Amino acid sequence: MKITKVCKTREIVTINGMYPGPTVHAQEDDRVIVKVTNETPYNATIHWHGVRQRLTCWSDGPAYLTQCPIQAGQTFTYEFTLVQQKGTLFWHAHVSWLRGTVHGALVIYPKTGVPYPFPNPYEEHVVILADYWFKDLQKLEKRVLASGGGAPASDAYTINGHPGPLYNCSKNDVFKIDVIPGKTYLLRIINAALNIELFFSIANHKLTIVEADGEYTKPFTVEQLMITPGQTMNVLVEANQPIAKYNMAIGPYMSAQFVPFQNFSAVAHFQYSGVSLTSMALPAPLPFFNDSLPVKNSMNGLRSLHATNLPLEIDTDLFFTIGVNVEQCHSRTPNKSCQGPNGGVFKASMNNVTFVRPSISLLQAYYNRLHGYYTDDFPEVPLKTYDFVNGAPNNIPNNTQSLNGTRVSVLEYGARVQLILQDTGIVSTENHPIHLHGYSFYVVGYGTGNFDPMTAEINLVDPPYMNTIGVPVGGWAAIRFIADNPGVWFIHCHLEVHTSWGLSMAFIVKNGEGPLETLPHPPADLPRC
Ligand code: C2O
Repeated sequence: MKITKVCKTREIVTINGMYPGPTVHAQEDDRVIVKVTNETPYNATIHWHGVRQRLTCWSDGPAYLTQCPIQAGQTFTYEFTLVQQKGTLFWHAHVSWLRGTVHGALVIYPKTGVPYPFPNPYEEHVVILADYWFKDLQKLEKRVLASGGGAPASDAYTINGHPGPLYNCSKNDVFKIDVIPGKTYLLRIINAALNIELFFSIANHKLTIVEADGEYTKPFTVEQLMITPGQTMNVLVEANQPIAKYNMAIGPYMSAQFVPFQNFSAVAHFQYSGVSLTSMALPAPLPFFNDSLPVKNSMNGLRSLHATNLPLEIDTDLFFTIGVNVEQCHSRTPNKSCQGPNGGVFKASMNNVTFVRPSISLLQAYYNRLHGYYTDDFPEVPLKTYDFVNGAPNNIPNNTQSLNGTRVSVLEYGARVQLILQDTGIVSTENHPIHLHGYSFYVVGYGTGNFDPMTAEINLVDPPYMNTIGVPVGGWAAIRFIADNPGVWFIHCHLEVHTSWGLSMAFIVKNGEGPLETLPHPPADLPRC
C-alpha cells in the first residue's frame, strides 16, 4: 500500500493494509489459526516471535529454516497453541528485510479469572517501536550484501507508526496516550526495529517493568529502559504528575562504531486529560547513545517472578562466539562489492561459521532425510580459545576468517543445555540481541570481558526467562534451556543486517520416544521451494 511519512510517499508491504499490522489478541492455551495470503510480488513468511511452538515447528515461520517462502499468490495457514504462554509477544515477516514494515503485536491474556500478579491497570496500550526506511527493504538488503559495506541508517524511528513532531512534515503524525490523573497504565512495548536497539523513557514518569519477553518479572522500576529488536517489555506507568503533556521518547543505543550515527529520536505524547492542546510537551531525557551503564543496570534488575523448569544441572555445555568481522576482498579488482572498511567485506559468524541459507527449508530436509543441504558439525566450542574481547594479535586470524556453511548442532530430546554467548571484539565490540526460536531460555549470567567459568556469577534462583538477550558489549551471556521441543530452531542476531551477514545457526532437536515428544507430519499446504 502507499504510505506518506516524513514528507515522502512510498509503497510498503503490509498485512491487511495496516502499519504497524493488526494486533492479534488471544488467551493462554488458545489455538491460533492464521491464514496468510501473499498478494505481493515478493516472497513472504510470518514468524510468531516468542511463541514456543510446542510440537508445531512447521508454523514457526523463518524462511528456509522451517518452511519455504509463501510465494506470490499462495496461501499458507499457521496453526499453533499458546501452551502456557501469556504476555506480550509479536509477529513479523521472516524473509529478507520485510519485517521492517510487516510486524504487529501478539497480546496473550491470562486465562479467564486469572489475575495479573500486579494491580490491575486502568488501561493497556500496545507501543510498537520501529525504524522506518524510504527504500524498498528487499532491494536494500540485496544492495547491502552486494556492496560488502555496512547498512545505511534508517530515515526515522516510529512509535506505533508515527515519527512524531521532531521530524519534517510530522507535526501531526504523533502517537498519543490520553491519561487520567491518578490512574495506572500498562504499556506493552515491542521493539520491532530492523537494526536499532532503543532507549525508551517518559518525561517525569517512572517505568515499572513487570514482564519481559512474555514472562512475568519481579517489579523493577527504572527511569529509562533499553529494549533490543526482538524484545518485548510490559511496564506500569502511574499518572501521578501535574496535569501536562509529557513526551514519550525513543533514541538509539549503539555501541558499534561502524554503524552510521543516527542520533535522532521519535516522540509520542503521554497527555493528561484537562491539559490544553496547545501546551508544550515536556522533554523526556534519554541516555547518551553509547551509554552502557543503564543497560547493564536494568539487565541486572530483571528477575523472574517464578523460575519454574530451570535446569539446575546441565548435560550439554556449549560456547559460541558471536561477532562481525571484515574480510579482505578476494576479487582481483577491488570494486563495488568491497565497500567495507579498508576495502573489505563485512561478514558475521558464530564460532567462526558464517551461516549460509540453504535452498530448501532445513526442517523439510531434516524431516524427509534429504542429504546435501546441511551438515551436523557445528562446533560446540570455538576452534581456538583466546582473548575474544581484546583480540590476541597472534590468534586473530582464527576469528576473522569465518567458514561459510550450513552447519547445525543436533541436540538429544530433553538435553539440559547451557550456552555461553561470547561477544568478540574484532571489528568493534557491540551489543548483539541473540534470539532463539522455539524456546524461552533462562539468562543465568551476564557480564563483561571474556567469560571465565571460575569467576562468572551464575544465578540459579530467579534469572529472567527470555527469548532475546542483548549479549553485552565486549561481554557474554549464559543461557539455559531444556531441549524438549523437537524441530529445527533458528538462533540469530535480531539486528537484521547481522543475520544477513551470517550471524546465525540452527539447532535440530530430535524427537523423544513418546507421542507428545514427536514432531507431527507437515501441514498439507506447506509451501514448496
Ligand atoms: Cu523475531 Cu528469527 O526472529
